[in-house]
Amino acid sequence: MPLFIKNGEIVTASDRYRADIYCAGETISRIEPTIDQSELPRNVEVIEAAGKLVFPGFIDPHVHIHLPFMGTLAKDDYESASKAALAGGTTTVIEMICPGPDDEPLDAFDEWASRAEPLAAVDYSFHMSVVRFDKKAQRQFRTIVTKKGIPSFKVFLAYKGALNLSDEDLFGTLRLARDLGSIVTAHCENAEAIDAMQQALVAEGKVGPEYHYVSRPPIVEAEGVHHILTFAELTGAHVYTVHTSCDEAVRTALGARYRGVDVWIEAVVPHLVLDKSYAERPDFEGGKYVMSPPLRDKRNQPVLWNAIARRFISTIGTDHAPFDFVGQKDLGRDDFAKIANGIPSLQERIGLVYTHGVTAGRIDLATMVDACSTQAAKIFGMYPRKGTVAIGSDADLVVFDPGYRGHFSRATSHSKVDYNAYEGWEIRGRASVVTVRGEVQARDGEFVGTIGRGRLVERDATH
Ligand code: URP
Ligand code: ZN
Ligand code: ZN
Repeated sequence: MPLFIKNGEIVTASDRYRADIYCAGETISRIEPTIDQSELPRNVEVIEAAGKLVFPGFIDPHVHIHLPFMGTLAKDDYESASKAALAGGTTTVIEMICPGPDDEPLDAFDEWASRAEPLAAVDYSFHMSVVRFDKKAQRQFRTIVTKKGIPSFKVFLAYKGALNLSDEDLFGTLRLARDLGSIVTAHCENAEAIDAMQQALVAEGKVGPEYHYVSRPPIVEAEGVHHILTFAELTGAHVYTVHTSCDEAVRTALGARYRGVDVWIEAVVPHLVLDKSYAERPDFEGGKYVMSPPLRDKRNQPVLWNAIARRFISTIGTDHAPFDFVGQKDLGRDDFAKIANGIPSLQERIGLVYTHGVTAGRIDLATMVDACSTQAAKIFGMYPRKGTVAIGSDADLVVFDPGYRGHFSRATSHSKVDYNAYEGWEIRGRASVVTVRGEVQARDGEFVGTIGRGRLVERDATH
């Protein structure tokens, strides 16, 4: 059904203006100061947007949906994750494919894609994790980049014995990425240092969730950033540091950029609004707030927000990693190193950024659009199909009510996880209508769309 959004105020990463939007099909057909409805087909679906903001659909460049990790399996599937994303205004996600070290990369791609295809209501793509780098795997990575439209790798410097790469393989991955015009997204924390510190803490009986932070302090992350960016400098590869959490790591990345290294920086929403005191909550409540890199000292939050405001940090993702408190997080009740890592935030991201970023005066609206949509589209080869409001772009649109007031709650979350890390927090503003390629998929926090309509976005290798 054609779509007509009238009287709204369009906000992109660079402009803000009042205009009507008409979408005859899956893309935006017209944007004009006033479109006369009598010229449009009779069956047009009209969305009145007076007093509302119209954003490009938000893109989450870092989510985990199917995730076998730390001896357990994340709770969401593409149906619950799509509903959560759409309810919060996210129309495209990029999921990390995280196979085991013995798996074939192409089999892993097929597995992740086959889980998404029947259940996705958002559009989606993947970052391909490199957890082995033998000759056979290298051939498959070439196919994944050039034939499957997945021009981004993921490497883990952390998670010793599970996901981390040797230096030889890391260097090889960066060279391959450089050859293919692919970007390398990187979890930057030194696996060996963390493993040694975790063992020492546990041996001393320091086993509570508050010691997770102690085992991976900011310098461990800064060292990881320095390490991969040294290799990037030597190989010419382009690198994107995921969930960059602290002053030390951001400075290190910016120092490398100053030397000419092509590096983009991602922040994730938990680090912007939560701090390490949450993981210190008594009676294992802190387990809900264990993620890696850990929640940091509060002093880091203004550093991150300032870097976003100045666009030194390019994107705000979530690192949505959905593990239940009961049965998954509590596997680590007697040993923090066994707590399933992750803080689910897919539905809450835009509400948190608008509330704590825009209405708090930390960033402006255009920067929110840039960090939560446009930059992800540009960096990951989807722009201008995604990430902006323009004629010819996909009609992924968020009609946003800035006057809405409500609260985050498990009761209104679509993720399957049994807790909400932001329970009871106030939300300002909400996506009232969310469209994906011209069809309404969510209204006022409820999913009203079609499961299975989401599509794999084949991306361009732009690096
Ligand atoms: O705590 C986290 N971040 N869990 C998900 C895995 C990862 O490191 O991204
Ligand atoms: Zn990570
Ligand atoms: Zn992650």
